[in-house]
Amino acid sequence: MSLRILQFGATGQLAREMLDRAGPGVTITALSRAEVDLTDAGAVARAVAEAGDIDLVLNAAAYTAVDKAESEPDLAYAVNAWAPAAMARACQARGLPLLHVSTDMVFSGDKAAPYVETDAPAPLHVYGASKLAGEQAVLGACDRALVMRVSWLFSAYGQNFLQMMLRLGETQPVLKVVADQRARPTASGDLAAFILSQGERLAKAPAGAPEWGLLHVVNEGAASRYDMAQAIFALTRPGDPPAMEPVPTTAFPTPARRALNGELDSGRMQAVFSLQLRPWQEALEDVVAQLSAQKETA
Ligand SMILES: NC(=O)c1ccc[n+]([C@@H]2O[C@H](COP(=O)([O-])OP(=O)(O)OC[C@H]3O[C@@H](n4cnc5c(N)ncnc54)[C@H](OP(=O)(O)O)[C@@H]3O)[C@@H](O)[C@H]2O)c1
Repeated sequence: MSLRILQFGATGQLAREMLDRAGPGVTITALSRAEVDLTDAGAVARAVAEAGDIDLVLNAAAYTAVDKAESEPDLAYAVNAWAPAAMARACQARGLPLLHVSTDMVFSGDKAAPYVETDAPAPLHVYGASKLAGEQAVLGACDRALVMRVSWLFSAYGQNFLQMMLRLGETQPVLKVVADQRARPTASGDLAAFILSQGERLAKAPAGAPEWGLLHVVNEGAASRYDMAQAIFALTRPGDPPAMEPVPTTAFPTPARRALNGELDSGRMQAVFSLQLRPWQEALEDVVAQLSAQKETA
């Protein structure tokens, strides 16, 4: 395999999984915030223009503070919409593909079934709206752009629901966990593996090919937050799970209103790429094993 990737983001969950999983023949030039701050659209464009020989650009960075975005809309839009727009224009100018990552949070959650790529988005909050603006800007400016929508990313890195549950499980006498929000939890490592496995194909796909456009990339199987918490403690504290209580979303009022249904249908991924990601429970087992190995070596 020979693949040269320019990657925005070096420290986030997806960014680190990309760096961990890049095998022989894959070169990833990862740009941290110190190298390119995404609030500087000019710097973003220059980074693509001056990148030397590369096969594709991956945007693995984002403003991901869903609640904080309500009080920082300009920052959320700068990072999630205007920076990807600048990447897309610069990629188009060089004839490069752009792989961008978005979220189920572009949807309102009102649909009674899983969301497909052609469903109309209707975000409930600033973060979702900023991500939607990013999707639209990327797809509008670059004719070789793939926008992968993902949900509930988890990994051994950074801040995510898995890490939060493990922390709270140590400190709370009874863990109250939301039971009425559903999605398809997705391992950042499986997302990275998908990107790496399809990289060469994407690098060659011409404008107009079916590979481009919106794509839901999620692990198999839906879950509520409560289901996921149960699975986490079944793996990490099999004989001694913490006491847990299922609660409705309304038990935790948040600045950004959460959608109840974030389930994404991945039929298009199966149709175009002939693959599905494994069940999220299998991926969770691997991440939990990785965390305990990290603990042992710490
Ligand atoms: N996490 C989820 O559950 C979830 C769910 C659905 C979709 N997504 C999407 O999946 C993608 C990957 O998410 P993730 O969980 O890997 O993100 P993450 O762990 O929160 O990491 C975000 C990355 O973006 C960088 N970043 C933020 N602001 C920046 C700026 N102004 N300039 C340069 N870099 C900046 C961060 O750098 P610093 O370390 O310097 O802050 C960090 O490397 C994102 O597009 C996100 O919207 C995530």
